[in-house]
Amino acid sequence: MDIPVRIALIPGDGVGGEVMTEALPFLDWACARGRNLETTLLPYGADHFLATGETLPESAYTSLRDGCDGILFGAVGDPRVPSGRHAEEILLRLRQGLELTVNLRPCRPTAPGQDAAIDIEVFRENTEGPYCLQGSTEPGRAVDLAIHTEPAVRRLLEAAFQRAATRSCPLTLAHKANVLKHGHGLWMRVFEELRSRHPEVSARTMHADALLCGLVQHPGAFSLIAADNYLGDLISDLCAAFIGGMGVAPSISWAPHRPFRCAVLAEPVHGSAPDIAGRGLANPVGMILSTALLFRHLGWEPEAIAMEAAVKAALESGAKTRDLGGALSTASMGASIRSRLPR
Ligand code: NAD
Ligand code: IPM
Ligand code: MN
Repeated sequence: MDIPVRIALIPGDGVGGEVMTEALPFLDWACARGRNLETTLLPYGADHFLATGETLPESAYTSLRDGCDGILFGAVGDPRVPSGRHAEEILLRLRQGLELTVNLRPCRPTAPGQDAAIDIEVFRENTEGPYCLQGSTEPGRAVDLAIHTEPAVRRLLEAAFQRAATRSCPLTLAHKANVLKHGHGLWMRVFEELRSRHPEVSARTMHADALLCGLVQHPGAFSLIAADNYLGDLISDLCAAFIGGMGVAPSISWAPHRPFRCAVLAEPVHGSAPDIAGRGLANPVGMILSTALLFRHLGWEPEAIAMEAAVKAALESGAKTRDLGGALSTASMGASIRSRLPR
């Protein structure tokens, strides 16, 4: 018997739990097909924080770091914790502590009527920039520091160049080096170096503002977009809008420089959606596609393909939650997708 793949489940806050509930049967389905996995459900999120004062205890962080192959994450963020402290100490701690530099946010049409030419992958640096959370509020002045380090920039860009070479597609770096001369200057320098080492990749840089305009006008003209943490966050939400919105966009983050069997983090792009939480309105597609990305990362390509095909078939049949103009509940949408899985 091979060693089980260890998956930690962190539903988190708001719709996080609702969409996680719809992802779990896919883990059972993978087991039924012979995949060997074990899961651990973790309680971290706003409820746990408000009840215990704990965000992500160090012991839990260490077990995730040393004893886990993948984390499935719902979302964090709760109006009862306006400081967002628990979100930082859970989600940003995992991304930064585990050095999950590369955040892949793919964007492909999910439903009929969408531009079939769209096939974008955003490679977002996931640990640095303004997310280092260093700054200060002073009388009449506020500072948020953005730190970019060469190892992380290099890791993200190497992953993006490798992917562009594999896909045989162009790569665009989004930047504002015309203003952010130091931080984005570093991105430009590493990008130029990698461009000369990868003559097989058609690589260009674009000012992020012009890129956003171009994206809206011609989304099909972009294939792979690399960006720092902040720009990547914004660009990936815009890309989600091309394929149906926040409810359908998946993501996965990993540490390319860390050894085999290090935790990766699969999470939908959306947040805890307090405006619809608790009403069965959330679209589980982003979470289910994130689970497929996790399976692909684990080498379970047939399961990933089957899940993506099941999502597509369900949406093509007209199965939709309210955000897509339909009337299905979160649970019915999950069931519709599952009913299209092979055995
Ligand atoms: P959000 O993504 O939670 O919601 C934005 C809009 O998208 C809302 O109208 C919401 O109803 C809709 N939406 C989101 N997920 C949906 C789904 N699965 N199905 C249908 N509609 C969906 O972003 P926000 O409102 O800016 O943030 C809410 C909270 O979530 C904040 O605390 C924020 O910090 C947090 N957040 C967390 C993550 C994360 O955990 N990765 C990501 C983004 C935002
Ligand atoms: C995301 C979210 C997070 C981010 C927030 C909740 C810190 O918007 O996962 O995209 O900005 O990375
Ligand atoms: Mn975001």
